[in-house]
Amino acid sequence: MTLDINKIRREFQILDQIVNDEPLVYLDNAATTQKPQQVLDIIRDYYEQNNANVHRGVHTLAERATVQYETSRDKVCALIHANAREEVLFTRGTTTALNWIAKFAEQIIQPGEEIVISIMEHHSNIIPWQQVAAKTGAVLKFVYLKDGELDMADLRSKITDKTKVVSITQVSNVLGVINPVKEIAQIAHQHGAIMVVDGAQSTPHMAIDVQDLDCDFFAFSGHKMAGPTGIGVLYGKAALLEQMNPVEFGGEMIDFVYEQTATWKALPWKFEAGTPNIAGAIGLGAAVDYLTNLGMADIQAHEQALINYVMPKLRAIEGLTIYGPTDNQRRGGVIAFNLDGLHPHDVATALDMEGVAVRAGHHCAQPLIDYLGVAATARASFYVYNTFADCDKLVQAIQLTKEFFKHGTL
Ligand code: ALA
Repeated sequence: MTLDINKIRREFQILDQIVNDEPLVYLDNAATTQKPQQVLDIIRDYYEQNNANVHRGVHTLAERATVQYETSRDKVCALIHANAREEVLFTRGTTTALNWIAKFAEQIIQPGEEIVISIMEHHSNIIPWQQVAAKTGAVLKFVYLKDGELDMADLRSKITDKTKVVSITQVSNVLGVINPVKEIAQIAHQHGAIMVVDGAQSTPHMAIDVQDLDCDFFAFSGHKMAGPTGIGVLYGKAALLEQMNPVEFGGEMIDFVYEQTATWKALPWKFEAGTPNIAGAIGLGAAVDYLTNLGMADIQAHEQALINYVMPKLRAIEGLTIYGPTDNQRRGGVIAFNLDGLHPHDVATALDMEGVAVRAGHHCAQPLIDYLGVAATARASFYVYNTFADCDKLVQAIQLTKEFFKHGTL
């Protein structure tokens, strides 16, 4: 089914505004996406009608809040095809989820054992592993690139029987490349390693089936998928979550507390200490409903159509370097680029003057940016509400930017 993008855009009021005398073209979706009215409404409705703490009250509002919060867990469980709701933990976001997995890695890694990640990971999937290596004496190894994609030969040589954890992003937030994480999970498992998938840039844009991927852990954020900030998800296979110690301790996660000891609740609550982000989880549940109703396959098809449309136009611009794979079918909706002789911050500022919002900098992926041999890049990233007209505006604004810096005027 073809999506009605005009109808979708009407549900995102923020998109309908003038920025610097130009209609806004929002292309910073890899950083965060906009939220549809139904997500905003449900958060407001929760605070106006149902606000109460979860799991601990017997009164009606507490019951309503608990049902809404736990129903969101069921929605997430269905979205990613987890085997059971107990495997879905609410976190602050992808970063928290990856940090929790790293804490678990500290429990199971011995000195000299290895952690394998790739050079295209963002900082949240690098620094926690550096910390694990520093604390445990494990070795952190990187897989490098070939033709803008993961070098699978390098990956096969880096994963050995010493590997304890492999942690790879499903879609790069800079290169846009879609990594074969199912195949990588098979390789990891052949060597007895745990497979972690960073789904921050994939879950918002494509159908996810964690059982089919057969990953052991999967992390993502609500705010990159039309939901609110401050809420994310850690999926883990139940057997591993049972072994994993809680990272935080306090109310909500306990069963019995004695003077010197305490026991934990069952999964998933053993990990959710303190009052959780109730409104965030409910908002994420509404975002899951929204995306599911559109259809994840149709969302991906729309973004693929945008990429197929805009890539040849961008590649035709003299002096524009695009990073990542040349095959558009290997890409999600992320395009990092540089204009010859211009700093990407200047490019992003000039694009903003045309109403086009892109990110510039290292995109929280400094090792990758170093590896690419540049100081920074500009980055346009698409979502379901972007149009072919947005693509044209991006191309036109880049051309105007070139002219501006050549002649000093727009
Ligand atoms: N990782 C996020 C981005 O790419 C913050 O912008």
